[in-house]
Amino acid sequence: MKIIKLSTPEEIGMQLAKNLYQKIQVKPDLVIGLATGSTPLPLYAAFIKLLKEKPLDLSHITTFNLDEYYPMSSSNPNSYYFFMNKFLFSPLKLKRTQVNLPDGQSKNYRLECLKYENKINSCGGIDWQLLGVGVNGHIGFNEPGSKFNSLTRRVMLTQSTINANRRFFKSGEGVPIYALTMGLGVISRTKEIHLIATGENKATVVQRLLTEDPSTNLPASIIKKHPNATVWLDVQAAHTKV
Ligand code: F6R
Repeated sequence: MKIIKLSTPEEIGMQLAKNLYQKIQVKPDLVIGLATGSTPLPLYAAFIKLLKEKPLDLSHITTFNLDEYYPMSSSNPNSYYFFMNKFLFSPLKLKRTQVNLPDGQSKNYRLECLKYENKINSCGGIDWQLLGVGVNGHIGFNEPGSKFNSLTRRVMLTQSTINANRRFFKSGEGVPIYALTMGLGVISRTKEIHLIATGENKATVVQRLLTEDPSTNLPASIIKKHPNATVWLDVQAAHTKV
């Protein structure tokens, strides 16, 4: 696991935007794994800016997001589809057929998860996977205790995650207790992983990630077993709390 420490989230965003841009230049049909939340926003903004300065054909890329709340309509402003559309898909003018998120409206979530998994496989797997990390060490919505070989499935969110994500919801609107998430087994099979952790509130989980052996208590630790994973830290997240 490679570790890159930079001063600010914006600097990380710029470096990773260049990395993604170069990967698409080499492989125009790159299959990209994406995340939601606050962490990827500087990267998404930097990538959009880079594309404006140096246009690149994105018509052959395919994206797969890690997760979606369940049940959740894609038109709901709290949905991850809505979030991705606002901060990335729409500014990049990606077609609906190029972008994939688990369908939070599916009545049959088991079938939906199977279909999602099959679609990733039929695209040849994910080439470039972006991850954030929860304060409890989750990646996607794989909460502590998730098996390292877990597949795409419906999960129940922990209270810690519900509390952390409440900031994105208008007052009075409850955070769903379920989500559909790509499993740890799927994430571990991606060809290249970039995990970003920024801000002081991630310092404790980062310290755990850097020091603990891989274990299901800390789902993010699975990337320590991956042959091509990079952790991007800003100074605040890299700061060791004693
Ligand atoms: C969301 C996801 C989550 C977030 C994590 C950190 O798609 O995969 O694992 O990356 O909850 O969220 P932020 O970035 O808001 O701190």
